[in-house]
Amino acid sequence: MTNKSFIFNLYEINSIVRFLILNYSDYKIWLFNGSMGVGKTTFIKELCKELNVISLVNSPTFSVVNEYISLDNIVIYHFDFYRIKHESEALDLGFDEYLDSGNYCFIEWSSMVSSLLPHKVLKLNFEVLDNLSRKLNIVIS
Ligand SMILES: Nc1ncnc2c1ncn2[C@@H]1O[C@H](COP(=O)(O)OP(=O)(O)O)[C@@H](O)[C@H]1O
Ligand SMILES: [Mg+2]
Repeated sequence: MTNKSFIFNLYEINSIVRFLILNYSDYKIWLFNGSMGVGKTTFIKELCKELNVISLVNSPTFSVVNEYISLDNIVIYHFDFYRIKHESEALDLGFDEYLDSGNYCFIEWSSMVSSLLPHKVLKLNFEVLDNLSRKLNIVIS
């Protein structure tokens, strides 16, 4: 298990995103955890931009999953499990198949579905430091 951490503001997200894509693109399942408003969706928007997604990237809080496709046909599933009450709701929407698809799965509030997750995941844990700065802890299993 390796750990790495970064402190960043809004203008520094892009360089971290580039670092992650460069170093960890063999990981397809990326877990985003941290309190409401910490910047999970903001970070995923930047990741998608860097992966050449041109469609709108927005929090799928109500739909639970959004699907994006990049200019070079990379498929990305963006989940937000904040509102689910039980893991069975994730299974009902075919979460297993999404995980097995080999496509990117960016998962906000993955802690809500922890028992459904595979072993090989990239964990991104966010903390608020102050109004503009955030801390990102990367845990690689
Ligand atoms: N360093 C930063 N990284 C990400 N978001 C930041 C940062 N500093 C301030 N923010 C702000 O915090 C909010 C994060 O919201 P959002 O990405 O929706 O959070 P979450 O998805 O974790 O609930 C946005 O309003 C964003 O502009
Ligand atoms: Mg969000």
